[in-house]
Amino acid sequence: MVAKMRIMSKELVEAFRFICTVDFWIMAVLWTFSLLASYWQFFSHGLFGRIVSFPRNANIEVPLRPLCIITGATSGLGAAAAYALSKEGFIVVLVGRSAHRLSERVAEICKHNKDAHLKAFQADISSIESILHFRCSLEQWLLESNMHASVQLLINNAGMLATSCRITAEGFDEMMATNYMGPFFLTKHLLPLLRNSPVPSRIVNVTSFTHRSVCGVTFDKESVIGKSSFRMKQYPCAQIYGYSKLCLLLFSYELHRRLRLESSCHVSILAVDPGVVKTSIMREVPPYLSYTAFAFLTAMGLLDSPEGAVNSVLDAALAPPEISGVYFFGGKGRTINSSSVSYDTGLARELWATSCDLFLEAQLSAKSISSSVQR
Ligand SMILES: NC(=O)c1ccc[n+]([C@@H]2O[C@H](COP(=O)([O-])OP(=O)(O)OC[C@H]3O[C@@H](n4cnc5c(N)ncnc54)[C@H](OP(=O)(O)O)[C@@H]3O)[C@@H](O)[C@H]2O)c1
Repeated sequence: MVAKMRIMSKELVEAFRFICTVDFWIMAVLWTFSLLASYWQFFSHGLFGRIVSFPRNANIEVPLRPLCIITGATSGLGAAAAYALSKEGFIVVLVGRSAHRLSERVAEICKHNKDAHLKAFQADISSIESILHFRCSLEQWLLESNMHASVQLLINNAGMLATSCRITAEGFDEMMATNYMGPFFLTKHLLPLLRNSPVPSRIVNVTSFTHRSVCGVTFDKESVIGKSSFRMKQYPCAQIYGYSKLCLLLFSYELHRRLRLESSCHVSILAVDPGVVKTSIMREVPPYLSYTAFAFLTAMGLLDSPEGAVNSVLDAALAPPEISGVYFFGGKGRTINSSSVSYDTGLARELWATSCDLFLEAQLSAKSISSSVQR
């Protein structure tokens, strides 16, 4: 009883401390307005018949069973997407950090879908070395299983909301590495396999309405690595989360523009905003505050379940192949506009250049590590 009281009072103090931070107010006020901005667009466009929606592609005969890769497939939206796409007939490659959680998820999907074709790979999306290792293992597996050396769908879903500063082995802020740099590196590494697909292939990036709360940004190396936060007394978690999601969105649109310039390219790229979903994403936020936030959002009718919210991810994954460079929100194949900053081509080019530099540096250091290990 005493121990329980101690834990409760510790959690209360933690919650109170968090309320006193700028981040709490960004989450409570700016993020609420950002979410309402998405819903405002959604309802006003719907009212005037201006909403653009894309029905899912009807089952088209394809020469091979399509293969999809889902990062962060061990819980929440990623797990729901893995199950739903296994039902759609995809071979689903589940990517996650924990071998134990991966095997639990595979067993769970197989229990509900006896025909599921699944393969799990352990990889940490915040680590360049781990991404490289994953790509090699994937290629090896495709070869050994006598499968076509291609990927039809990549869903960059893994993400986190960290409330403290943690630096990865490669010197990145962990949240920036997981939410943006990892998906960028993984996409770059898997593009050859997506291009090699005999049928149109697709990349789906799971972003967030929180990108709307970001303004006045720069995309130099320090910011993209998240280095500016290393020296800060209070880790600006809400700002970095929103910034990482804006980066992912700018990258999605920039890649779309670049791929459209290639006449023979059939890779499309789409962004998804799932709204607010009751998952483990708030696990680092003091429990009293996450419970209160979920209760408030439920009362407002704004909180969705992973099984409901996954519909936007599926809409993007299964939209007709010619659809690219749009932002899915609200299910039923509906799309809205993201923030005006996210369409800024100058900013997107700046971010692209910085990310490519970081990608090259990472490649070089990964090569030098592996050659020194071989020696
Ligand atoms: N929930 C929302 O309201 C909401 C709203 C907008 C956008 N989103 C986005 O939706 C995506 C899915 O999140 P969720 O809500 O489903 O939360 P979640 O339940 O916490 O799922 C996140 C997944 O990402 C994985 N992950 C985290 N860091 C990783 C890393 N370094 N390497 C590999 N996997 C990693 C987690 O794996 P572990 O099991 O190992 O932790 C987990 O499977 C995220 O990108 C999130 O930003 C969520």
